[in-house]
Amino acid sequence: MNGGEAGRRRLYGRRKGHRLSARRQHLIETLLPHVAIDLAKPAPEALTTLFDPSVRSVWLEVGFGAGEHLVWQADRNRDVGLIGCEPFINGIAKVLSEIDERELGTVRLHADDARDVLAWLPQSTIDRVFVLFPDPWPKKRHKRRRLVTGETLDALARVLAPGGELRMASDIADYAAVMLGNVLRHPAFAWTATRPAHWRERPDDWPQTRYEEKARAQGRQPYFLTFRRL
Ligand SMILES: C[S@@+](CC[C@H](N)C(=O)[O-])C[C@H]1O[C@@H](n2cnc3c(N)ncnc32)[C@H](O)[C@@H]1O
Repeated sequence: MNGGEAGRRRLYGRRKGHRLSARRQHLIETLLPHVAIDLAKPAPEALTTLFDPSVRSVWLEVGFGAGEHLVWQADRNRDVGLIGCEPFINGIAKVLSEIDERELGTVRLHADDARDVLAWLPQSTIDRVFVLFPDPWPKKRHKRRRLVTGETLDALARVLAPGGELRMASDIADYAAVMLGNVLRHPAFAWTATRPAHWRERPDDWPQTRYEEKARAQGRQPYFLTFRRL
């Protein structure tokens, strides 16, 4: 489903990059149907049973790009179920390839807009959400396409369990400031920062993605924001 077709503003850029290798195309045809979330069916009340075997906790990554962070977390937290949303098909294919090679049985994917999954998820079922380097849309006329708005935060507040964590990052100072301002204004979240340098330091359990590496190489400071769901 295309975001625009559903009558909402499309927030992402391209859906396709270079042509997929035969192996990755094969994984899209054979593995994706097994790990894709079926949004036509209601979500199970106990969301942990979406995974087989069942997991202790469910985390959600919105816009995982090439999936480095998603795969890193899934590999190190084998008792946690990870739901990843990404409309860029080359990113989906990359993650499928990692699922296949590393035998990651705890990843479920939605190859489209994360807002569909947010609407589908039952209330208070997610323990951690990652929104890492969402598309910055730096041009003034594109800013309305930025994902981190009050509306998105309402949806995240609904699905996050009390005490759950929301992690966000941006390498664009004005977007990081807007994100921070929007979350601080939201009654459901508290910023976990303990000192001024906090938002410049990536926690140890948060790997660097290629996107972040590129931002640093181009001289941009990444900002890391962690919030607690109240
Ligand atoms: C700048 S990239 C960053 C990718 C990754 N998080 C990283 O740090 O490397 C932003 C990603 O968000 C995805 N995206 C944008 N809007 C989205 C939406 N509504 N739902 C899911 N993914 C989205 C884009 O397709 C893109 O891959």
